[in-house]
Amino acid sequence: MLRTHTCGELRLEHVNQEVTLAGWVQRVRNKGGLIWVDLRDRYGLTQLIFEEDSSEKALLEKAAELGREFVVQATGKVIERTSKNDYIPTGSIEIKVTALEVLNAAKVPPFKIEDETDGGEELRMKYRYLDLRRNVIREKLQLRHKMMQETRKYMDEQDFIEVETPVLIKSTPEGARDFVVPSRTNPGEFYALPQSPQTFKQLLMVSGFDRYFQIVKCFRDEDLRADRQPEFTQIDCEMAFVDQEDILNTFEGLTKHLFSKVKGVELEEVKRMTYADAMKYYGNDKPDLRFDMKFVELNDLAKGKGFGIFDQAELVVGICAKGAAEYTRKQIDALTEWVKRPQIGAKGMIYAKYNADGTIKSSVDKFYSADDLQDWADAFGAAQGDLMLVLSGDADKVRKQLSELRLKMGEELGLRDRTVFKPLWVMDFPLLEWDEETERFHAMHHPFTSPKKEDIPLLDSDPGAVRANAYDLVINGVEIGGGSIRIHDRATQQLMFKHLGFTEEEAQKQFGFLMEAFEYGAPPHGGIAFGFDRLCAIFGGSDSIRDYIAFPKNNSGRDVMIDSPSSIADEQLKELSIQLAVVAKS
Ligand code: AMO
Repeated sequence: MLRTHTCGELRLEHVNQEVTLAGWVQRVRNKGGLIWVDLRDRYGLTQLIFEEDSSEKALLEKAAELGREFVVQATGKVIERTSKNDYIPTGSIEIKVTALEVLNAAKVPPFKIEDETDGGEELRMKYRYLDLRRNVIREKLQLRHKMMQETRKYMDEQDFIEVETPVLIKSTPEGARDFVVPSRTNPGEFYALPQSPQTFKQLLMVSGFDRYFQIVKCFRDEDLRADRQPEFTQIDCEMAFVDQEDILNTFEGLTKHLFSKVKGVELEEVKRMTYADAMKYYGNDKPDLRFDMKFVELNDLAKGKGFGIFDQAELVVGICAKGAAEYTRKQIDALTEWVKRPQIGAKGMIYAKYNADGTIKSSVDKFYSADDLQDWADAFGAAQGDLMLVLSGDADKVRKQLSELRLKMGEELGLRDRTVFKPLWVMDFPLLEWDEETERFHAMHHPFTSPKKEDIPLLDSDPGAVRANAYDLVINGVEIGGGSIRIHDRATQQLMFKHLGFTEEEAQKQFGFLMEAFEYGAPPHGGIAFGFDRLCAIFGGSDSIRDYIAFPKNNSGRDVMIDSPSSIADEQLKELSIQLAVVAKS
């Protein structure tokens, strides 16, 4: 070993010991005859000291030449510091160096390798290996490591078997586009990278594996956001001979285990809500339950009083922000402008303030009497000091808009505390969803999800009303996982494909293997997949999953460090039987 200790290890009890450390130079302070060097490794920071009186001149000169991020080995004696640094665990000692070896010099790094860095996102991505030296980033990956170990521990204890499924497969319909890989040996044919191992895990149930899991990379060619990457990781799970309740309990167990072991948080019971209620009360299928602010529908109270905008609206609906009556006119105007931005798309916003003196002042006083407004307040359960905000319009649209406003108010009022965790099962999702663009129904989860038995007769008469045995795990307004009880017989699977607009031939061509498997003794089964990167980000208190991935892609799906995607040589294209059409770059 090139070291006797790490840079995070030495304390007062080591004083007088001769030690050797190795690491990166974080900082050099040169006071002429006295040089301090902060030496860093993954475990911490230790101060080295070079003094003219005790060090040889050559040693002092060597130390003076050290630059940031040089890799060095230093031997010396642990001594007690005269002025201690309480901010770091090694702050009571320093190393009086007697030998210094530069193991490798370093160019000046393009940004500061410290917790507070001067490097912008793009630069840090280009030099990701340097960014990963920073404590704040390394700690996130250590959290990920811990989550992974604890997941495996729990799943193993519950008798799940980890099975690897292939990466070169054919299309799995999870709703995004596939990444495809040309096959050299099968000219003109392509593999697809899995959007998830969905069909394989179902086949494993047919094989009798009974309980499967895999921490697995998935690939989806979709528009990127803070919580989406083109390649991401799932904790993918499937169980046989279970009903929905068994799955919810097992994975509530995993969630609680991780919170307890990784964060020391004992989670309360995971609440449950139907999709229909989530949409009605929060305008959203992933409500953030860290705060209340439920939607209150006002059609009965607000219509028919001469206010045309409400009279013409399909839905008048609002929220009550507790204690926000002190919002100034300016603040309310700013909120109104905010909901009117194209991203939100509201036409306007009405407010009613329940003042401390008991009066209610609204922006529509002309149309509503004091008694009318008191009725509003009663409907909202509003008290003195509260602010009621009301939107109106087309029901689906206005719910979405109000959902955004609710989250914004939650943020402004400090109700979205990152140290509070409110998990929720959202259940009974619709089986199908109408797609305006293609003018047909799509599976809301995926085509292997089973409909609720009692709703099957509706498949022909009112397909949009059929509910699925599908559930999502939501934590603090983020969709962490989703799953369903599957179809496990050929006839129902065929019926499902028919309703999704597949011809019999298409269904057979794409999924004949699965339907055939269902004819060889498929047990009832179901499962779930957690978005592992999102789970890590929630645990770490971040909105973005990027820092929890060692080498992530940027917003355009590029890896700017290795410069990928990139063109390939003509020779390679030829081998793959691919002819590129010349596409003008815009
Ligand atoms: P689903 O498509 O809901 O279900 O995906 C499961 C979870 O994966 C996460 N996720 C993502 N995370 C980061 N970047 C992405 N691009 C991304 N896309 C999805 C989300 C999501 O909840 N096979 C089914 C599961 C099942 O039915 O068992 C599936 O993949 O957190």
